[in-house]
Amino acid sequence: MATLTHQNPEPIDSEDEPLLGSPVQAVQRDGTNIYHNLVTGTATVAQAGIWVLAAVVWSGVFSDQLSFFSAHPLLNVSALLLQVQASLILQPTTTATPKHKHLGTRIHYIIQAISVAAFIAAFIVIEVNKGDHPHLVSPHGIMGLISYIAILCQALVGVTQYFFPRQILGSVDAGKRIYKYHRWFGYGLMILELATVAAATQTTYNLTTLHIQLWAVLVAAVLVIAGVGARIRKHKLGL
Ligand code: HEM
Repeated sequence: MATLTHQNPEPIDSEDEPLLGSPVQAVQRDGTNIYHNLVTGTATVAQAGIWVLAAVVWSGVFSDQLSFFSAHPLLNVSALLLQVQASLILQPTTTATPKHKHLGTRIHYIIQAISVAAFIAAFIVIEVNKGDHPHLVSPHGIMGLISYIAILCQALVGVTQYFFPRQILGSVDAGKRIYKYHRWFGYGLMILELATVAAATQTTYNLTTLHIQLWAVLVAAVLVIAGVGARIRKHKLGL
C-alpha cells in the first residue's frame, strides 16, 4: 500500500516502512543531503545512545591515569561509534535513487574500514598489554574475541559482495543475494559488541579502577538498539 504525506507528495511503498515510525523519515528523498540520514527519524535516539556510551567510556578512562591499556577501551568505543554512523547513513538509501545508494555505500565502507582498523588496533593493544598473563579469563574477554572474529568475517563478506562478486561468487547478482545476510549479521554484531562493552564493566580492572557503570552502558545500549532497530526496513532483511 502506498503512503502519501504533506511533506512528500511522492508515494512511499509499504515495503519501505520501517519497523517503527514513519516511512518518510526512513527513506532518503531525492535532493536531500546524505548526511541528514545521520539524524532523521529515530537516528537521533541512536545518536544519543552511542554518544552517551562513548562519553561514559572515555570519561571513565580519562578519570584514571592514562596507560598503554587505555587505548583498548578508547579505540573500541570509537570504532563502535563509527560503526553506528556507517549503519545510520546507509539505512535510508534505496535502489530507487542509485546515486544515494552509491554514495551511501561508499561512505559506509570508508567509515567501516576506519572502524575495523581501530578494532584491530584495540585487539593488538590488549594482547600486548596482557603479555604473559592468562588470556581470555573473563566473559568480556571471550565475548570480545568472538566480536573481533565476527567483525573481520563481516568485513570480508562486505568487501566480497560489493567489490569482487564476479571473481569470488560468480556474478554480481550472487553478490547482491548476500546483502540481506550482511545486514542481519551486522545488526546482530552490533548487539554483541554492545553486550561486550557491558561485560567490560564487570572486569576486575573496571570494578577497581575505571568505575564505568553497567547501568549507564545498558541505558546507552538500549537507545542505540532502539534507534537503529526502529529504522530497519523489513524488505531489506528479506522479510
Ligand atoms: C566492542 C568492544 C570491545 C571488545 C571487542 C573487547 C575485546 C577484548 C578482548 C578480546 C579481551 C581479552 C584479551 C585476552 O584475554 O587475551 C579484552 C580484555 C579486556 N578489556 Fe576489552 N573489549 C572491548 C571494550 C572494552 C571496554 C569499553 C573496556 C573498558 C573497561 C574494556 C576493558 C577490558 C579489560 C579491563 C580487559 C582485561 C581483562 C580481561 O581480559 O577480561 N574492553 N577485551
